[in-house]
Amino acid sequence: MTDLLLLPGDGIGPEVTAQARRVAEAIAPDLSIAEAPFGGISFDQLGSPLTDETLAAAKAAKAVLMGAVGGPQWKDAPRDKRPEAGLLGLRTGMGVFANLRPAICFQPLADASSLKRELVEGLDLMIVRELTGGVYFGQPRFIEDLPGGGRRAVDTQVYTTMEIERIARVAFELARGRRNKVHSAEKSNVMETGLLWREVVTDLHKREYADVELEHILADNAAMQIVKNPKQFDVMVTDNLFGDILSDAAAQLTGSLGMLPSAALGAPGTPGLYEPIHGSAPDIAGRGIANPLAAILSFEMALRWSLNRADLADKLFAAVNRALEAGARTPDLGGKLTTIQMGDAVLAEL
Ligand code: NAD
Ligand code: IPM
Ligand code: MN
Repeated sequence: MTDLLLLPGDGIGPEVTAQARRVAEAIAPDLSIAEAPFGGISFDQLGSPLTDETLAAAKAAKAVLMGAVGGPQWKDAPRDKRPEAGLLGLRTGMGVFANLRPAICFQPLADASSLKRELVEGLDLMIVRELTGGVYFGQPRFIEDLPGGGRRAVDTQVYTTMEIERIARVAFELARGRRNKVHSAEKSNVMETGLLWREVVTDLHKREYADVELEHILADNAAMQIVKNPKQFDVMVTDNLFGDILSDAAAQLTGSLGMLPSAALGAPGTPGLYEPIHGSAPDIAGRGIANPLAAILSFEMALRWSLNRADLADKLFAAVNRALEAGARTPDLGGKLTTIQMGDAVLAEL
């Protein structure tokens, strides 16, 4: 059985996963590691961004580590064959509905953020993003021609009680092991899904999690508060689209989008999907300068959440911190190290 399936993907995906692989081989030499084609490169070679074989291999592994997918090369591919469609298919195929996106400001990077040091120093915010529902998947969705000219595009935002309750449960459980505070972000002031979201979260809180502090916040205000005073937050639970946007904003608090890992989890006992939250970064792909830390820290999350090796995860986290303390910086963090040199720096600390 494969312990760790790597899906390097496109753009900087292969560059950053190669460093995560080196780290994995060094810290856990007993892990069995395999690779499979995924994303645009899989579409080019095999006609689909997510083949049945790759999905089956992902479901059979203990953990899956994905690099990044997409890029301008595939902008004219049929919509259901685009790399991003493959990623959505992988998430639903694996049933990983709970996306944990931790925005942690490493102490040595407190000056690397575009925000003032005092605002981000010590930041430890966990965004819990619903990952397999909402407007990303709702039907109907289409673009149609209008008889009088012009076109009409439709996406559908949809959530059920079950979907909201299970993601809220993840947030409350996580909060209990942290600072015991959950912010639930939606747009209950304008959206029906937001209204149901608020009702279901309130209800679950009353029934089972009254010991956890709960605050409802409108998603637009949440975006503002994330840049105004991010340290007020502990766990923030939100839907698929708001979670996508708010987590990119939160990433910048940590110094760079290249720092933020994620874990996507499903039912207990099923494999998790681990991915940096950044994309394939076509503007720097192939130049060997991408920051591999989001990928390396995604592997750290895999050790913790799927591979049952929290001891090694702690060790790896500390090694990353020490590498940063020693001054290791890729260009996105204001430094000069290449992707490989950043991998070297983490390996040296291990
Ligand atoms: P992006 O995240 O790829 O890049 C945004 C900016 O951040 C760019 O300037 C890029 O150079 C920089 N950046 C990102 N990761 C970095 C890293 N590790 N080190 C240094 N700098 C980094 O977002 P985009 O440009 O909007 O999207 C590019 C493509 O990636 C699109 O096709 C998009 O759909 C796809 N995408 C994929 C994923 C994923 O696979 N999980 C996530 C986001 C976007
Ligand atoms: C992310 C990405 C993806 C998303 C895209 C590439 C499908 O932006 O993982 O944050 O929107 O979920
Ligand atoms: Mn995103």
